[in-house]
Amino acid sequence: MGQIESLSEIEEKLEKLSVSANENIKNAKSDSELNQLRVDLLGKKGKLSTILKGMGKLSSVDRPVVGQRANLIKINLQELLNKRKNQILNQRLDQQIKEEKIDVTIPSVGTPPGSAHPLISTQDEIIDIFCGLGYSVESGPEIETDFYNFESLNIPKNHPARDMQDTFYLDENILLRTHTSPVQIRYLENNPPPVRIIAPGRVYRRDAVDATHSPVFNQVEVLCIDKDINFSHLRGTVLSFLKSFFGDIPVRFRASYFPFTEPSAEVDVMWKGKWLEVMGCGMVDPKVLENLGIDSEKISGFAAGLGVERFCMVRHQIDDIRRFYTNDIRFLEQF
Ligand code: DAH
Repeated sequence: MGQIESLSEIEEKLEKLSVSANENIKNAKSDSELNQLRVDLLGKKGKLSTILKGMGKLSSVDRPVVGQRANLIKINLQELLNKRKNQILNQRLDQQIKEEKIDVTIPSVGTPPGSAHPLISTQDEIIDIFCGLGYSVESGPEIETDFYNFESLNIPKNHPARDMQDTFYLDENILLRTHTSPVQIRYLENNPPPVRIIAPGRVYRRDAVDATHSPVFNQVEVLCIDKDINFSHLRGTVLSFLKSFFGDIPVRFRASYFPFTEPSAEVDVMWKGKWLEVMGCGMVDPKVLENLGIDSEKISGFAAGLGVERFCMVRHQIDDIRRFYTNDIRFLEQF
């Protein structure tokens, strides 16, 4: 360096730069190539800046001439870069449209058949078994009153059993049912014994979600009311149902407590070497029947309640209750 460049030398360099840059921009094939060119030509340490460094040595008459020329070249190159960029983008888009074109005349491979949700088919299976035993299917509202969900089932206010089922209240008196047992009361209010019904449906509890708890889940309620019904009828029905559902496996009845049955029991099945609780049941408490105007000296009955999710999880070895509600197609496709 050190050599003072003349006006004409700088102008010549600018011209050469302009010509070669034009050529390079035209030939650029990609966005990234263009970006590189932009930096090489117009960047702080780019070719244009380098040429203009020689400007300081020019006379005050020549300097603006070169300045103007350089500015024009700069604007021109910017425009060319932008134009070429748009061209490349459009070409890519055209290409994409061509490649992704759908040929609607190709014969279809058919729509893969859907299948029932595992919870639904488990519930259907439970319903089928009880229908085979002479039961009919009933239902009740999911929004319940305190009376049907608790009071009528012998669970007065302040009864500790209310803590067993943490409840979603809509107001002081109205709630989301915590179990399907209120259907027992609603049905008996309108239908005199003999009664043999099941009531499948959604129930709600304020439980934190984890692998075995969901704030919404499904139960099936069982109710049999007639003359001379005793615990052996309950036992026979439950054993027959469990045998139909699980096959020939060990079953045990464990004494338990529910406010609306007396005596009460929980039922376990032996599954993969472990006792697993699958339902609650008992003889309907005479108080519940008397409140409905049924003579508990002559009429008795049993009730049971089971969780559909539990039955489905055991049957299909499902490890997490959340799988039922997240609609993951990879899970659902297995059924
Ligand atoms: N309702 C009870 C619950 O959700 C389950 C239950 C137990 C239902 C015993 C019954 C019964 O009908 O007899 O925890």
